Amino acid sequence: MSRAPIVLGIAGSPRRFGNSDRLLGAALAGAREAGAETRTLVAADAGLRHCLGCNACSLDGECVQHDGGPALYRAIDEADAIIVVTPVYFASVPGVLKVLIDRMQPYWARTYALKRPRPARRPGAILIARGGGDPYGFEHAEATVRSAFAVLDIDVLDVLATPGVDRPADLEAHPEVLERAHALGAVVTAEATKRLIER
Ligand SMILES: Cc1cc2nc3c(=O)[nH]c(=O)nc-3n(C[C@H](O)[C@H](O)[C@H](O)COP(=O)(O)O)c2cc1C
Repeated sequence: MSRAPIVLGIAGSPRRFGNSDRLLGAALAGAREAGAETRTLVAADAGLRHCLGCNACSLDGECVQHDGGPALYRAIDEADAIIVVTPVYFASVPGVLKVLIDRMQPYWARTYALKRPRPARRPGAILIARGGGDPYGFEHAEATVRSAFAVLDIDVLDVLATPGVDRPADLEAHPEVLERAHALGAVVTAEATKRLIER
């Protein structure tokens, strides 16, 4: 397969152009330099209603809601790799990202309720920004994104968690972190390219 891999970045913060957006920007720049086509989906702008827990998706694998869901599912399905970035909010992910993650339930339903064949596994990565002023860490935010990635059959290649960033531009004082995010974007792209060729 000769096309460029599509790397989808999901921006999880309700605050635009802050620390997590900077992490994602660096990762997607690294992905582009490694040959990817990059796309960005901003959770806060995705026009998603929260999951109703109605389990209708367990009947046919589709969500019954008429909102930003179809565009979200198209973006997820077209991606060859997915990078999720999130700030830590009260030890977990912000509500806007949790709403998006809960809307992954149709993928769970297709695999576990409807027993459909699983799609090809894709690579991914998790980027986390946090102030670090509370004692509860980032592990719950990471676990929440990993849980969604498990349902999407995404292999997490790496997790980059950055404490000590609170004001929107704090990350600019940590160029080494931005370099690591940039490098991770390239690693994800290389793996996506390899899997595209093998398919
Ligand atoms: C509502 C809210 C809750 C937060 N909760 C935590 C927390 O539990 N732990 C933490 O380390 N930082 C917490 N923070 C700080 C953010 O993680 C930090 O400001 C981060 O850099 C924001 O990323 P952004 O610039 O991409 O929005 C919180 C910030 C907000 C606004």
